[in-house]
Amino acid sequence: MASIFSPLTIIFFFLLVLWGGEARDPFACDPKNAATRSLPFCKESLAIAERVKDLIGRLTMEEKVGLLVNNAAAVPRLGIKGYEWWSEALHGVSNVGPGTKFGGQFPAATSFPQVITTAASFNASLWEAIGQVASDEARAMYNGGTGGLTYWSPNVNIFRDPRWGRGQETPGEDPILAGKYAASYVRGLQGSDGNRLKVAASCKHFTAYDLDNWKGVDRFHFNAEVSKQDMEDTFNVPFRMCVKEGKVASVMCSYNQVNGVPTCADPILLNTTLRGLWGLNGYIVSDCDSVGVFYNAQHYTSTPEQAAAAAIQAGLDLDCGPFLAQHTHNTVKKGLLREAHVNGALANTLTVQMRLGMYDGEQSGHPYANLGPRDVCTPSHQDLALEAARQGIVLLKNKGPSLPLSTRRHRTLAVIGPNSNATVTMIGNYAGIACGYTSPLKGIGKYTKTIHELGCSNVACTDDKQFGRAINAAQQADATVLVMGLDQSIEAETVDRVGLLLPGHQQDLVSKVASASKGPTILVIMSGGPVDITFAKNDPRIQGIFWAGYPGQAGGAAIADILFGTSSPGGKLPMTWYPEGYVEKLAMTNMAMRSKRSKGYPGRTYRFYSGPVVYPFGYGLYYTHFVHTLVSAPKVVSVPVDGHRHNNRSNIANNAIKVTHARCAKLSISLEVDVKNVGSRDATHTLLVFSAPPAGNAHWAPHKHLVAFHKLHLPAKAQHRVRINIHVCKLLSVVDRSGTRRIPMGLHSLHIADIKHSLTLHPHTLGIINS
Ligand SMILES: *[C@@H]1O[C@H](CO)[C@@H](O)[C@H](O)[C@H]1NC(C)=O
Ligand SMILES: *[C@@H]1O[C@H](CO)[C@@H](O)[C@H](O)[C@H]1NC(C)=O
Ligand SMILES: *[C@@H]1O[C@H](CO)[C@@H](O)[C@H](O)[C@H]1NC(C)=O
Ligand SMILES: *[C@@H]1O[C@H](CO)[C@@H](O)[C@H](O)[C@H]1NC(C)=O
Repeated sequence: MASIFSPLTIIFFFLLVLWGGEARDPFACDPKNAATRSLPFCKESLAIAERVKDLIGRLTMEEKVGLLVNNAAAVPRLGIKGYEWWSEALHGVSNVGPGTKFGGQFPAATSFPQVITTAASFNASLWEAIGQVASDEARAMYNGGTGGLTYWSPNVNIFRDPRWGRGQETPGEDPILAGKYAASYVRGLQGSDGNRLKVAASCKHFTAYDLDNWKGVDRFHFNAEVSKQDMEDTFNVPFRMCVKEGKVASVMCSYNQVNGVPTCADPILLNTTLRGLWGLNGYIVSDCDSVGVFYNAQHYTSTPEQAAAAAIQAGLDLDCGPFLAQHTHNTVKKGLLREAHVNGALANTLTVQMRLGMYDGEQSGHPYANLGPRDVCTPSHQDLALEAARQGIVLLKNKGPSLPLSTRRHRTLAVIGPNSNATVTMIGNYAGIACGYTSPLKGIGKYTKTIHELGCSNVACTDDKQFGRAINAAQQADATVLVMGLDQSIEAETVDRVGLLLPGHQQDLVSKVASASKGPTILVIMSGGPVDITFAKNDPRIQGIFWAGYPGQAGGAAIADILFGTSSPGGKLPMTWYPEGYVEKLAMTNMAMRSKRSKGYPGRTYRFYSGPVVYPFGYGLYYTHFVHTLVSAPKVVSVPVDGHRHNNRSNIANNAIKVTHARCAKLSISLEVDVKNVGSRDATHTLLVFSAPPAGNAHWAPHKHLVAFHKLHLPAKAQHRVRINIHVCKLLSVVDRSGTRRIPMGLHSLHIADIKHSLTLHPHTLGIINS
């Protein structure tokens, strides 16, 4: 018997013992397969470009076409298995794509807070850490044969309109925040092992995609009309940062059209911008069946072959959906597409698979090959999910202050509301199966006795039948916590909201309970999008308000820790909370970011909207007070400009210099700020720095925009000096009407917490260059 145990079999059994599971056979280049193991594409020692070229050279047209779709066909002749490209890991490994299956050795995965909540932490190292854990678990599942290596996450569309059902999946409304989130999460997922990928991330949905289904307009038929200006300074920013800073291995184009062209058929967006301008090193994938959608639903081309040609020529490499497998061969036969284009698409997908190690045969030499079931839902992973929820919770109101609650004074808590015992609601959409849940009720129950009442049977809250019992509970308890808000029945993929108020009778329940409550009443809102809770903000009987977002599997523990002050709140809102009246003033289909007074159009996000808000972007209170002192900051900065260009007036229109004409390389300013925690509690501070460009000439500029953020932990009475660097061309520039980025000369105002600092930019002409 022993003689049949080859060294490989021994390794196999070793792995089996290591994770008590079954190792998957190699995807390709199995060393046991004598027919392929010596082919050049299987040789790790050769350059990837060479291996890819070799492999493409061996494929027939039929085989090539089978590789253009998410459920890529096997090529048994060359020892290559089928591969499902579609997996998701928006905030932990998800079961949304067919590439990942839970069960058996992998019943669950760590389910982090929904992205909008994690964004509220303004902590880039947290975002990267979550990506690292998600990719550990993803690799473990891949090794066990139940997961993919290509993850179509993160979603970095701008949360443009508060009604958007998928706003919850995004890092919010600010382009720089979204871009930093994208780059950090992608780095976490993909690892930093040079060209090798731990898993391949994908930034989606490119671009100007942020409408699902609103008053009969759906994403499959929507033509987003976007100005060059909004495209350059809003919609494309997170994608550019994802590609250039995050080095993402993939971008997904969207269902919608932009200015009459489906994004997945737009060579300017895909080929020129993503690949040419930004240097994407990776593959471009369609949203699921979006090629079929622009042919069948949008009638963008008159034949399916024209649709396939348009997509591939524009730069699409992979179709999530069957369309390209069905039609590409005919497209080539009809002469609408050259085989070289198909080869180009395959080169991009195969390169990513090679960078993932999929053609390296036996996985044992691979740095991630030992990850298995024991690396999923580990205590440290679950602790990070709890920590992320604590960091993302935002304190909106604290009258008195009455928070944090105390276990001495508040021995019995009434825990009320349709989300008070939430579990799956806490993980939002694009989730998987969580390792376990701590609901708010369970979390609070670890601190005090609880009296529990739902008040309404679900978030729709269509009647007041249970109000009496809820009021009764509040009358008996020392304090009352109401956990209200939304869930996926109200805001979701394919479901946009039409209003911003709490659904049904929720508001009524909160007010009635608050007026009956014996002790302080605290309102916790669980939601992805913003909610108009003006009634609660103004109600003196409601002493405290938190926004918990969708706080993930450990959300209830985090809520309880913050309620009782064993953790302190430090999150900030990543989006504006508008009053209900706002959404009556603008159609969700109007993409314009800037306000138009003459038309009564209010504009969008804190950068362009200046009307009343319930809570502004960046809002969030603490259990302590911080005092800021500006230690050093330049008052004047000269911007070096090439001489012959400076003399040309068209380059300094509106007294703003084109970024391409400034010497940007080392042009950065730095500020030093002392932050002191003057309160009596240790706390985490989120320092946001905004810049307001000069008023006047640049009427197209935002009121102000985020240029930097910094997170720091400060024990009570401690002081810390923070240094902030601001890249002048990247961060102090604005975009003009023709989509050109310019640096306005004159007086800029930097807002560092409550400090305003003036900074004058002036051009400094370098010697005349003869061109
Ligand atoms: C794609 O971009 C390359 C250069 O970046 C260019 O040579 C090629 O013509 C472009 N193709 C299309 C279809 O625009
Ligand atoms: C809370 O939810 C859990 C899990 O869904 C359930 O087992 C439990 O009975 C609920 N508790 C109450 C008091 O409703
Ligand atoms: C000024 O710059 C514009 C655009 O950069 C260019 O088209 C124009 O020819 C220039 N004029 C002179 C006088 O150099
Ligand atoms: C940011 O998050 C990381 C990961 O949880 C944590 O270690 C770090 O302390 C956080 N930063 C601050 C200032 O809280």
